[in-house]
Amino acid sequence: MQISERLRSIKPSLTLSVNSRALELKAQGINVTSLAVGEPDFPTPKHICDAAKVAIDANFCRYTAVPGIPELRKAAGDYFGRTYGVAVPPESIIIGAGGKHCLYNFIQATINPGDEVLIPAPYWLSYPDMVELAGGVPVSVYAGADLGFKVTTAMLEAKTTDKTRLLILNSPSNPSGAVYTEAEFASIMRWALDRGLFVLSDEIYDQLVFAPARMSSAIPWFQKYPEQVAVLNGTSKSYAMTGWRIGYLAASAQLVKAMSALQGHSTSSICSISQKAALAALEGPTDYLATMREAFCRRRDMAMEIIGGWGKAICPTPDGAFYLFVDVHQYYNDSVSNSTELCTRLLDKAHVAVVPGAAFGDDNCIRFSYAVADDVLADALARVGAVLAELG
Ligand SMILES: Cc1ncc(COP(=O)(O)O)c(C=O)c1O
Repeated sequence: MQISERLRSIKPSLTLSVNSRALELKAQGINVTSLAVGEPDFPTPKHICDAAKVAIDANFCRYTAVPGIPELRKAAGDYFGRTYGVAVPPESIIIGAGGKHCLYNFIQATINPGDEVLIPAPYWLSYPDMVELAGGVPVSVYAGADLGFKVTTAMLEAKTTDKTRLLILNSPSNPSGAVYTEAEFASIMRWALDRGLFVLSDEIYDQLVFAPARMSSAIPWFQKYPEQVAVLNGTSKSYAMTGWRIGYLAASAQLVKAMSALQGHSTSSICSISQKAALAALEGPTDYLATMREAFCRRRDMAMEIIGGWGKAICPTPDGAFYLFVDVHQYYNDSVSNSTELCTRLLDKAHVAVVPGAAFGDDNCIRFSYAVADDVLADALARVGAVLAELG
């Protein structure tokens, strides 16, 4: 069977080699600590699991409407109203099998072959591949550790051509945890909208912002410019529901219809039970969010202190998500000359799995997730520090 030309452009995941090496070590009985995970280490709250059980017992087990059950579309729209002061009508919300699925369908629905898409780097690794799968051209706009991993309008302007169609923003960011301030966010939005671009704001980590930093959402911009702005969110990160696969996207009703038509020919509707669970997440108590945020903030502070002691590592303090993106290029030498080689070394010598920055468009860095228990994190970082010290 042939593999389509389309799929040949997809790059194999850079994390794969580190993962397979980690599995080899585990098979040898070596206790490998993974700081590579992209999901909260907290369980899904009980009231959400209970809602799913109730749905099963009520045999809520049929196909649902393709863009989502009406009450979940409404709850997602109300979430935006509660959180950002602008409720989004249900016909402007589509439910997908995770934020990733919503984003994939959004790009398929908006990007024509040859369209250029501005992607601030470091970026979440799926963006460029999704753009390429739609025949678009990902254009990365790089801002390193010295800039706090945040781009400016001047940097975006420099990469804009008459083919530029879309800008993808992601604050808080995976992998850097960077959060744009209100002023930074507003100036980028204003620039993009004046330029006539579409903006997709990926806000999947919006509940994981650490005070005094504050979340800036594109929802108020969506209200004013519904034809140009779309906002992605979901239950994976905020509600510790990665496996349930529920995401949602706010866009114009016309675009939601187009995405729904595409969804109707791929997944059809989204898992009925998960939709009921997500409804409980969005409508139920949220006190556990503060507990989760507090734990992440505490771990971030502890990790920053340890990393600060390494000497040659540079890590701007992340204001959100649960990642540290650490610039380690000053440790590179003849034997370890890039982020992938360094991650392999850390796995072999420190028995700690982390993700090479090259996967996110920044080979100077490596990404640590701190979605692990405090003592596990402290122990793993100490071992990483020892290996780095050996490098010089
Ligand atoms: C920046 C970003 N956007 C979107 C997603 C998609 O998450 P999910 O498909 O689990 O909703 C992720 C998950 O890692 C992410 O890091």
